[in-house]
Amino acid sequence: MKRIAVLTSGGDAPGMNAAIRSVVRVGIYHGLEVIGIRRGYEGLLEGDFVEMTRSSVSDILQRGGTILQTARSPEFQENGGPEKAARILQDRGIDSLIVIGGDGSFKGAKLLNDLGIPTIGVPGTIDNDLGYTDYTIGFYTAIETVMEAVGKLRDTSSSHGRMFVVEVMGRNCGDIALYAGVISGAENVIVPEVDYDMAEICRSVIQGQERGKNHHIILLSEGVTDANAFTKELSECSGYPARLAVIGHLQRGGSPTAFDRLLATQMGAKAVELLIHGKSGVAVGIRGNKLHCMEIDEAIGVRDRLNMNLYELAEILAK
Ligand code: F6P
Repeated sequence: MKRIAVLTSGGDAPGMNAAIRSVVRVGIYHGLEVIGIRRGYEGLLEGDFVEMTRSSVSDILQRGGTILQTARSPEFQENGGPEKAARILQDRGIDSLIVIGGDGSFKGAKLLNDLGIPTIGVPGTIDNDLGYTDYTIGFYTAIETVMEAVGKLRDTSSSHGRMFVVEVMGRNCGDIALYAGVISGAENVIVPEVDYDMAEICRSVIQGQERGKNHHIILLSEGVTDANAFTKELSECSGYPARLAVIGHLQRGGSPTAFDRLLATQMGAKAVELLIHGKSGVAVGIRGNKLHCMEIDEAIGVRDRLNMNLYELAEILAK
């Protein structure tokens, strides 16, 4: 193996740059040429390639986003996309590929691997929705961002005696809401994995007010329901004013935390080492503080379970 390529795909996540840096530098250390593919699978189909050097990844460890840029390309899997991509990679003399992204990106990686391009997946998404790994790159930075935002919202919540519904990202996974809720002391955490009861939430608001509480923060995961309708209903049923704050794409940006830098750096290096040792078609993950790997299709299939112990703890702490 002489030439490997790396791409980032799907929603960007803080720490993707740290992973790219690690792939490039570890690859070069082992005598490989490393090619960067811009704009994910879209750029791959257009042959948008760039030669990576040690210095092309200097000063990016601390930067959010991805220097290779990214794209969502659901159409990649249709109309012969993977076959065309495999041909392009072979024509360019690229022996193997590292894909940094979420489950959609992993599906593309699996197809390319089946077409004879040895491919490794590295989990990069703020959602933490891949069940085979304890954490995905970007998740810890995203919850840190939510924590900071909730701290500020709490100030205004207390000053006005208003409730705040804070909508956070995560698609169908409640991890951002749950973890950020715990670390910022939210009064309620509402996630797609657990049904919510509006009457129960209103009771907790009223009880809080009766105890003299002048703030109330509810973290609502985007995958649950329409946040505007939820906020209106909450105001009406509790009799207290509520405001909605949507944190949105702020959660995707920013300098990666120490944890994300470390995770991304180790996972990027592991991906290169796996290829060197002739392994492919696997996704890198972390379990109990140890890196591991799993067949990509198996990894995509592992159901992401909500940490119910943490969920129950969040409820106890907020009572
Ligand atoms: O997968 C990351 C994520 O930020 C999700 O949490 C969110 O639902 C989605 O991407 C938003 O996608 P887009 O940036 O394409 O609007």
